[in-house]
Amino acid sequence: MQQKSSCKRILTHLLAGGAALALSLTSWAADKPNVVIVATGGTIAGAGATAANSATYQAAKVPVDKLIAGVPELKDVANVRGEQVFQIASESFTNAHLLTLAKRVSALAKQADVDGIVVTHGTDTLEETSFFLNLTVHTDKPIVVVGSMRPGSAMSADGMLNLYNAVNVAAAKDAKGKGVLVSMNDDILSGRDASKMVNIKTSAFSSQWGPLGSIVEGKAYWFRAPVKRHTMNSEFDIDKIDSLPPVEIAYAYGNVGPAAHDAFAKTGAKAIINAGTGNGSVGNAMVPELQRLRTQGVIIVRASRVPDGFVLRNSEQPDDKYDWVVAHDHKPQKARLLAALALTKTSNTKELQRIFWEY
Ligand code: DGL
Repeated sequence: MQQKSSCKRILTHLLAGGAALALSLTSWAADKPNVVIVATGGTIAGAGATAANSATYQAAKVPVDKLIAGVPELKDVANVRGEQVFQIASESFTNAHLLTLAKRVSALAKQADVDGIVVTHGTDTLEETSFFLNLTVHTDKPIVVVGSMRPGSAMSADGMLNLYNAVNVAAAKDAKGKGVLVSMNDDILSGRDASKMVNIKTSAFSSQWGPLGSIVEGKAYWFRAPVKRHTMNSEFDIDKIDSLPPVEIAYAYGNVGPAAHDAFAKTGAKAIINAGTGNGSVGNAMVPELQRLRTQGVIIVRASRVPDGFVLRNSEQPDDKYDWVVAHDHKPQKARLLAALALTKTSNTKELQRIFWEY
């Protein structure tokens, strides 16, 4: 009888413990959103020799688990786990890195137990990755790309707060459906038009169309939403793309000649983004050169080397007559990606131009 009652007592205790454990796991999972931090390297994972080294350091050194451990407040915001996809400085990103990263982000976004994704990234090409993800990952879940301008070892390092902000945005229900976001220096920018405009300050990133919102003490304040096509509304799906056609960028300046454009065409470029002067203007000496390349089947996209504004069609150049495409407000480095994706669908210049107006 005694044995029976103690078994009963143990069983009751185990059941109660199991229930408590299940409850805690459930409450752990249920009472906070689940955010995955996908790490690729960059300065946010950088380390310098001394605290005074805010610009002299080695990027892509600190692993994602140490980044997470370095911001213990993250556990108050979300259930966070990390994945180290790459550990590189972002100037070394290739199309292959972009495709691999976007496919991983897409797979994570499909998981029911993932509510938001943060991508830590070097700032040099952060804007290209954020735009590419914005164009190709079919999810309305928040995807937030974040970096830092100073390594974590520096005085007034910006990475910890940038990461804390990014996780808060990724965990915010009202961040859903706004496309891929960039969270830097308390700004929330659209992944479409965020750009690195200053290469030595923590206020490096901006958009000529302004931030979508701001984040202060972990709360996101929204003031605008994107109007161009992105994510769920994009005709480009990373799950169906395994390679990108070669598209190159040729910079224009006084006295420019066709050497770069010819070299690109010889290496098989399917399109050349001409980073023209002013409103994407093409010098008299270059017009026949670009027309020749067009007759050889190379798509010519007129962009501008000027940071802000947008290229008007048929303004300083008769684009209809020359069968050229204009990049709208996209900087050359973003026009390259959009042209490459568009060329996975079509080489019809009217269709290409539609795509540049819509994304
Ligand atoms: N090497 C640069 C990069 O990885 C460092 C710049 C940064 O991450 O802030 O983009």
